[in-house]
Amino acid sequence: MDAAVRVLRKGGLVAFPTETVYGLGADAANGEAVARVYAAKGRPSFNPLIAHVADAAAARRIARFNAAADALAAAFWPGPLTMVLPKATGCQVSDLAAAGLDTIAVRVPDHPVAHDIIAALGGPVVAPSANISGHVSPTSAEHVLADLRGRVDLIVDGGPTRVGVESTIVACLGTPTLLRPGGATRAAIENALGTPVATHEPATEDDEAPLAPGMLTSHYAPHAKLRLDATHIRPEETLIAFGPVPRELEGGRVFNLSPGGDLVEAAANLFLHLRLLDETGATSAAVMPIPHEGLGEAINDRLKRAAAPR
Ligand code: TXA
Ligand code: MG
Repeated sequence: MDAAVRVLRKGGLVAFPTETVYGLGADAANGEAVARVYAAKGRPSFNPLIAHVADAAAARRIARFNAAADALAAAFWPGPLTMVLPKATGCQVSDLAAAGLDTIAVRVPDHPVAHDIIAALGGPVVAPSANISGHVSPTSAEHVLADLRGRVDLIVDGGPTRVGVESTIVACLGTPTLLRPGGATRAAIENALGTPVATHEPATEDDEAPLAPGMLTSHYAPHAKLRLDATHIRPEETLIAFGPVPRELEGGRVFNLSPGGDLVEAAANLFLHLRLLDETGATSAAVMPIPHEGLGEAINDRLKRAAAPR
């Protein structure tokens, strides 16, 4: 932990676990360190970063809260919810991190390692998922190493992450709007707000200014081609299963996200299984339908992007 904070103070990059996925952290106030994050990931500079803080009080120093944001912070933080809010005056996060927007994405991760690093640094830490841009997000230290060996100064190994999909992103700039489904379910968010949330769908694949610029259509992409909602299997395909495998899908190699049909378990396994699929050298996979409730919304969102033509 001491080494992690020392590296961050010097403007270096530290990968660390959060409850969702591993993040590639840098001191948010240090513009050069933030620039290194973009370079290490090969991330387009128009795609802004999330500022991670130790607690809600620290979030209020960098962002302006309204009533909806207050309710969501009380219900979810620490936890897998990111809010996009107007920047506070005097916000010390580098302009580069916000990619020219006048808003900021803020999150309080629910992981002791992430919390202690951020608290010891004493200021916000930008942390995109610790993968090469466009690739599957890392849910273990080994995944980080596989993507970022030689591009990161230190990796803190905290074992596999608990949630397995990234945080839910909600913009609280007017009507609360869901920008990215994730570890906090829509139902839980609507319950905390007492109102439905709007959903932002980019108008087209080439949408010039998507609300969450990272939500490009092709993303989270394994090398293998995915075919979603499969009800039959082709001889060359590996099966990504959810729940018991029906007879007509049996035969080939199977990665089961959750043999018992549990969406929480499936979310935690999703990115690992996409990486394992690639390790087998498979060129194509059929994915069983996943129910679109609870964490299923986030799982289906990632699968849709993983299956998008590229
Ligand atoms: O679970 C998570 O959120 C993980 C862990 C490491 O905390 N982080 C993560 O970061 O997923 P990243 O950079 O992979 O995804 C951040 C998303 C991108 O889609 C980005 O475009 C969006 O947040 N974003 C960041 N700032 C924004 C802003 N001001 N307005 C709208 N979207 C924003
Ligand atoms: Mg990412």
